[in-house]
Amino acid sequence: MKIAPSVLTADFTQLKNELNSIQNADLLHLDIMDGHFVPNISFGPAITKTIEKNTHLPLDVHLMVSNPLDWILKFASEQTKYITVHVEANHVSESLSAINKHHIGAGISVKPKTPIRTIMPYINEVELILVMTVEPGFGGQSFIPEMMDKVKELVDIRKQHGLRFAIEVDGGINDETILICKQAGVDIAVVGSYLFNQENRSQTIEALK
Ligand code: DX5
Ligand code: ZN
Repeated sequence: MKIAPSVLTADFTQLKNELNSIQNADLLHLDIMDGHFVPNISFGPAITKTIEKNTHLPLDVHLMVSNPLDWILKFASEQTKYITVHVEANHVSESLSAINKHHIGAGISVKPKTPIRTIMPYINEVELILVMTVEPGFGGQSFIPEMMDKVKELVDIRKQHGLRFAIEVDGGINDETILICKQAGVDIAVVGSYLFNQENRSQTIEALK
């Protein structure tokens, strides 16, 4: 399993140390919120630049914003591996094209109540499909196990269509729920509060992997 720590619940006054403590992760997950698509605001391009300067990890940008087209360029750097937009957002197709134009892996995400069929028009254009396992907006919520049906559906779709997109989950991942995810066929797990509440982060990352 690949591990993508979400810095949302990290200590931002100690960002450098926090980033140093998770160097053995596979990706760094950045939760960008606009206070409109979700009822919360997180951080934007300026803090992302500071983060980027202090980590070698490839960035996995999760745009929880209503108008992703306005933001893609601001997060498109050499270190950005994926930019993910929500299928519930505006101008999805244009957003995926804009991401691909920058030679960054495009991702599409579904909120818990959104069925997988809504992303079918886009499956050929994405390298990543992000299944939300909590309602987006806040760290520290409980994992919704029913979302594993979506993961299994995606595993089948990927096989049927001969595609290679990675399947990622986000929300409520810990040492127990990650086993359920693995069994369902998840490739990448975003881990926020569980990881940042541990003393020894690198050991926790190894165990989660
Ligand atoms: C939720 C965010 C998640 C969140 C995960 O809106 O997209 O990435 O930070 O945090 P935990 O692991 O605490 O649920
Ligand atoms: Zn996220």
